[in-house]
Amino acid sequence: MNIKIIGTGSAVPKLRVTNDDLSKMMDTSDEWIKSRTGIRARHLAVEESTTTLAVDAARAALNMAGVTAGELDIIISATVTQDRLLPNLSCELQAALGADRAFAFDINAACSGFLYALNLVRMYLSSGRYKTALILGAETLSKIMDWNDRSTCVLFGDGAGAAVIRAFEEDEKSGVLAALQGSDGGKGMVLNCRNRPLNNPYVDHGNEVPYVHMNGQEVYKFAVRTVPKAVAQVVEEAGMSMDEIDLFLLHQANYRIIEAAAKRLGQPMEKFPTNLQECGNISAASVPILLDEVNRRGMIKKGDKIVLAGFGAGLTWGAALLIW
Ligand code: UT7
Repeated sequence: MNIKIIGTGSAVPKLRVTNDDLSKMMDTSDEWIKSRTGIRARHLAVEESTTTLAVDAARAALNMAGVTAGELDIIISATVTQDRLLPNLSCELQAALGADRAFAFDINAACSGFLYALNLVRMYLSSGRYKTALILGAETLSKIMDWNDRSTCVLFGDGAGAAVIRAFEEDEKSGVLAALQGSDGGKGMVLNCRNRPLNNPYVDHGNEVPYVHMNGQEVYKFAVRTVPKAVAQVVEEAGMSMDEIDLFLLHQANYRIIEAAAKRLGQPMEKFPTNLQECGNISAASVPILLDEVNRRGMIKKGDKIVLAGFGAGLTWGAALLIW
């Protein structure tokens, strides 16, 4: 038994905020942001929420797949910015879609979340017990940014990406051929965000509002070291050579990180489509939004070999190789 992506979908908020817009609110510039990251704009939620973005992305993916919500067995959302602690985003999504037969839960592996969800459904579906799953990355990161901290808030955006996954009998060489996940909790504090503080009859930390804190340079070093290694590992595990890969869809955090990975892998940048210029970093949503964009643009054809890879807070990383 193997699994295939049979539909993709994505959604971003209506409001597009350029670097110039930000430079009117804080001490930054288009030149600084573009030269350090490649980002030109991002979408920020005003009327949307993580749930509404997730619902829109999920509907688009189900539509493309020709699958009804009632056929779904599993819904897994990767997010760090679900609208409620309870119920989880996936259950809200289940209710909105009417996916009555599914079981639904969220995972948090930050920017690697979609890769973790993909590998998780691979395990579930390969058991033979379930047939169809919906996985998502969905975020409204703008609500956990400190808008007084120019070193983080300019980097991130909001949006959601989804994929419908189906199990199939392995009659041909296609589907997900290799996948890996990794974590290094020891370095977790380089990219962190506290939850609500303790508050009970014995301790009261008041109304502290927690925001994201990042040591950008440490995350950068981790990314350029880990991503090429993870990519090389799934390519080797699938018994392929790097040159055979048609597309590398990497987490969209920084153009320079993607360039460094391409260089280390000895591959041309043409094989690394990007959308960070218009989206910024959308954590768990970044890889599935990019996948949906290249899919809808007709850039993927049957038989193409695609590597997906993510990295982020935890620290975590994940990669997968699939034949479309
Ligand atoms: O999903 C995983 C997410 N995270 C990442 O992938 C982040 C990886 N790291 C990076 O992408 C880069 O480290 C950053 C883009 C975050 C920062 O680039 P950098 O080249 O490492 O810059 P820096 O942090 O060393 O800062 C250089 C200067 C500092 O000024 P001084 O101390 O040299 O005077 C900062 O205060 O740039 C200043 N700075 C800014 N200036 C204008 C920091 N943020 C800004 C800003 N606008 N937004």
